[in-house]
Amino acid sequence: MYYEQFDRIEIMKEKKVCVIGLGYIGLPTAALLANNGFSVIGVDINLDVVSKINEGKIQIIEPDLDQFIKSVISKGQLKAQSTVSCSDVYVICVPTPLKENDKIPSPNIDHVLTATRNIAQFIKSGDLIILESTSPVGTTKKIQEILIDCGVNLTDVHIAYCPERVLPGKIMTELIKNDRIVGGLSIKATKIIKDFYSLFVSGKIYETDAKTAEMCKLAENSYRDLNVAFANELSMICDKQKINIWNLIELANKHPRVNILQPSTGVGGHCIAIDPWFLISQDTKNTKLIQSARKVNNQKTKWVIDKIKNICAIHMKKTGVSPNIACLGLAFKPDIDDLRESKAIEVAETLLTEGYNIITVEPNIDSHAKFQLLNLSDAIDQSDIVCVLVKHKEFLASSVKDKLKKIGALDFCGVFS
Ligand SMILES: NC(=O)c1ccc[n+]([C@@H]2O[C@H](COP(=O)([O-])OP(=O)(O)OC[C@H]3O[C@@H](n4cnc5c(N)ncnc54)[C@H](O)[C@@H]3O)[C@@H](O)[C@H]2O)c1
Repeated sequence: MYYEQFDRIEIMKEKKVCVIGLGYIGLPTAALLANNGFSVIGVDINLDVVSKINEGKIQIIEPDLDQFIKSVISKGQLKAQSTVSCSDVYVICVPTPLKENDKIPSPNIDHVLTATRNIAQFIKSGDLIILESTSPVGTTKKIQEILIDCGVNLTDVHIAYCPERVLPGKIMTELIKNDRIVGGLSIKATKIIKDFYSLFVSGKIYETDAKTAEMCKLAENSYRDLNVAFANELSMICDKQKINIWNLIELANKHPRVNILQPSTGVGGHCIAIDPWFLISQDTKNTKLIQSARKVNNQKTKWVIDKIKNICAIHMKKTGVSPNIACLGLAFKPDIDDLRESKAIEVAETLLTEGYNIITVEPNIDSHAKFQLLNLSDAIDQSDIVCVLVKHKEFLASSVKDKLKKIGALDFCGVFS
């Protein structure tokens, strides 16, 4: 420990924290820190986000976050603004999307670099700089290099990477309870920044170096992608063999050392479908398995689209009319409102663009620019073909499952099969 136990908390709590990027990760983090007694400045380049937060409101849907924000804004513990101001701890939570134009998609860390340049003028001895954005290996070191280029004296300035592992929908709980990894650019940085996290995290905090921590986050999400790819590949093999994949997985998982995941419409969202590319683009030669997983998961979405088209063709041949297709679920995973990189959206949009009649049901949103949303029973009544694309809890009620089974719905996520 670099501080005596009795005064460590007091010293830390007097620190002013600046959280940069107030989205799904930064805003809950800022709220939690403020709720723990830190004086927090939240910075976002989006002025609408800033003014909304200062009114005590939130721009994302996340259980309990609204209550936290209302409380910390009213107490003056959190203030949002569009520019950085002098603090003692800087937590960078800006987006790290993919550069899609490249032949092999690669990470765009421009927001991290910009955020680093924006804090440079305020950095002083004793400050902590933490990167939470998912980043390619070497990014934390780049932060140090940029600060040096900006002429910052980094004596006694501590820099670390600390990846986020939270599950959307459970962020406020998981931010506190999850085990975490802190990887500093020096052993001292790791220890001091671990001390900082220990003030608001109840999970275990493991110490490592920055490169290992960066790689660890990418390995975790690539592992998930790979295991889902195996389930998705099996689902296509079983379909050809006319074997029920859901029964098969249940049986295989009776083996004490087997745990096959569930197949799906594909892998969407802004983490698992994205982060493996961070590894692939840094080392194409040694990432053949990770590349295959990405291909399989993308192929699974195309397979779902083809499957629906084939059923449509049979319907057309029988009736002479183009069927109405109900797509149940649009979010990128069950029980959330987030449509970013959603494979269910890809299915519905592809079919719509190709001239199919699409009806959609998404219980977690009120409206959509492209699709008319219906309630579940109207959608079933008004459609000829029903496709279950996302395993939302609304589709799991036994009366709904019975109905879907009875009408021969196409079940791509194991709702009733
Ligand atoms: N969302 C998740 O579940 C999750 C989980 C683990 C890791 N991550 C990672 O965390 C990072 C942030 O993700 P997110 O989901 O919170 O993103 P987000 O898009 O929800 O929010 C990012 C915010 O940062 C702001 N921003 C962009 N550039 C900025 C800058 N230079 N200065 C200040 N603000 C800036 C944007 O306006 C936006 O409000 C990403 O690297 C992501 O991969 C996300």
